[in-house]
Amino acid sequence: SWTMTGVIEDQVEAVRAQVGDARVVCGLSGGVDSAVAAALVQRAVGDRLTCVFVDHGLLRKGEAEQVEQDFVAATGVSLKVVDASERFLAALAGLTDPEEKRKAIGREFIRVFEAAALEVVAEAGAHGEQVEFLVQGTLYPDVVESGGGSGTANIKSHHNVGGLPEDLQFRLVEPLRTLFKDEVRRVGLELGLPEAIVWRQPFPGPGLGIRIIGEVTRDRLELLREADAIAREELSAAGLDRDIWQCPVVLLADVRSVGVQGDGRTYGHPVVLRPVSSEDAMTADWSRVPYDVLARISTRITNEVREVNRVVLDVTSKPPGTIEWE
Ligand code: XMP
Repeated sequence: SWTMTGVIEDQVEAVRAQVGDARVVCGLSGGVDSAVAAALVQRAVGDRLTCVFVDHGLLRKGEAEQVEQDFVAATGVSLKVVDASERFLAALAGLTDPEEKRKAIGREFIRVFEAAALEVVAEAGAHGEQVEFLVQGTLYPDVVESGGGSGTANIKSHHNVGGLPEDLQFRLVEPLRTLFKDEVRRVGLELGLPEAIVWRQPFPGPGLGIRIIGEVTRDRLELLREADAIAREELSAAGLDRDIWQCPVVLLADVRSVGVQGDGRTYGHPVVLRPVSSEDAMTADWSRVPYDVLARISTRITNEVREVNRVVLDVTSKPPGTIEWE
């Protein structure tokens, strides 16, 4: 079996050569790529890296803690956390169209990240240091897809942060540009990142915001987060993590169905299980999850999640269905 030691050593050298004495900033999403990119750069420049984690409140149960506690414990990285969930909920209020939700989430994300990055720049400036570089977890397939371009990113200031230039230019540091996903995971493991981060299944940037069909509210997020956690726990316990590409759990928030739970009739919401197998998410097949596993998920969700009284299974391939419902 081969290791990624050589790749890590080469990239550490390359990052040191690129950034010199400058400070570096990196956004963490909770996903594999940004975590591994950050850990690699941390190995290269130590405490001259500051990571920024924008918690949009749309992550799954335990994922924010994974970044704030487990990732920090594993790397010792200096992390700035911005809890922006209120702001995202406000931006999503009244929206039901999937693309409008995506736009609102993307727009808020950039605003919040820019403000946080500018704070990092201002703090460094107060110590007479400059932040010139932004880390991106770009992989080889992304490079090929986008035609190989790279270089700089503009962070535009929408607010007047004392004495800073209107537009800040960051140069990009992309230590994963030559790697495929499986190599990124190996690098992550060798850098000592927790398995839960390294083996995280794909999860969309807009998060649970596009897994609530209907308006996104705090209560609905809470329901979906609980149902999703149960499904993940049971699929993991059944040893299916590596067979299943991902398993969205979708809350049909505007649909109600009659049920009988405990002592009486309920009028609750269905959730949909969408387990798929896939190589690259371009096409997918619905996963043949064993009936006893499905039964455990269904029983637990309807017992443990207030207001969910029905669990249904999506048996559509992609195409014609997409993996996500929105
Ligand atoms: P679909 O639903 O198009 O999803 O079959 C294909 C893959 O992409 C993920 N996905 C997204 N990822 N932002 C993301 O970062 C998005 O808006 C988005 N929409 C879908 C999805 O989870 C699947 O892995």
